[in-house]
Amino acid sequence: MRKKIVAGNWKMNTTLQEGVALAEGLKAALEGKQVNCDVVVCTPFISVASVVKAVEGSVIGVGAEDCSAHTSGAYTGEVAANMVASTGAKYVILGHSERRQYHGENNEILVEKLNQALANGLTPIFCVGEVKEERENGTFKAVIEGQMEAMYTLSAEDFAKCVVAYEPVWAIGTGLTATSEQAQEVHAFIRASIAAKYNAEVADNTSILYGGSCKGSNAPELFAQPDIDGGLIGGAALKVDTFMPIIEAWK
Ligand code: 13P
Repeated sequence: MRKKIVAGNWKMNTTLQEGVALAEGLKAALEGKQVNCDVVVCTPFISVASVVKAVEGSVIGVGAEDCSAHTSGAYTGEVAANMVASTGAKYVILGHSERRQYHGENNEILVEKLNQALANGLTPIFCVGEVKEERENGTFKAVIEGQMEAMYTLSAEDFAKCVVAYEPVWAIGTGLTATSEQAQEVHAFIRASIAAKYNAEVADNTSILYGGSCKGSNAPELFAQPDIDGGLIGGAALKVDTFMPIIEAWK
């Protein structure tokens, strides 16, 4: 059975102190509650180690928002996957549309990043998704399939260690959510593509998260779709009060 996951992506928000306070608040809110999904927070590099400590003894898993394509060395400003793993973090978001758009991340780079993450025991949360124009001109499935090619360089064994996140770029931070039908259609498409590339078992066991203006009000309907296994949450992950209802959408 594949995992249900609600993961936060804090993006470039929160100072160290704010991040630790947010993590502590989330830990307190979850204490004693029955939680029906895996809960993950992916934080800016500067906060990862402190957030790992802050959530110790809770169900919360911690991740980074990116890692370097390189192992180590003269790459000023970069953070290697083994450095992320050395904090106790277990996850890393890769291929977020903001990285693709502002940092030129393409399949070639993302294959390296996937390999770095996996070699260091991190679970990649690999993001795919089309821009508005590709949704409108009907090329979105081909675009998503093209992005999945980076993951398809992995062995079935390594692929099985990854989580996929479908994030339509036109829905990120815009308040425009894909309808549950639109999201389900793409999730089913991705799962069928994984089955064709590997096999039905790998496809069935892959968690595919939805991201893009997901919040407490729309999470129950999205998560009720058969191929939506949770969410990757931006804005609503920055406050305990808005993140908790999304976690609680898994009844
Ligand atoms: P929002 O939830 O703010 O739309 O962001 C989604 C996202 O990009 C998560 O990675």
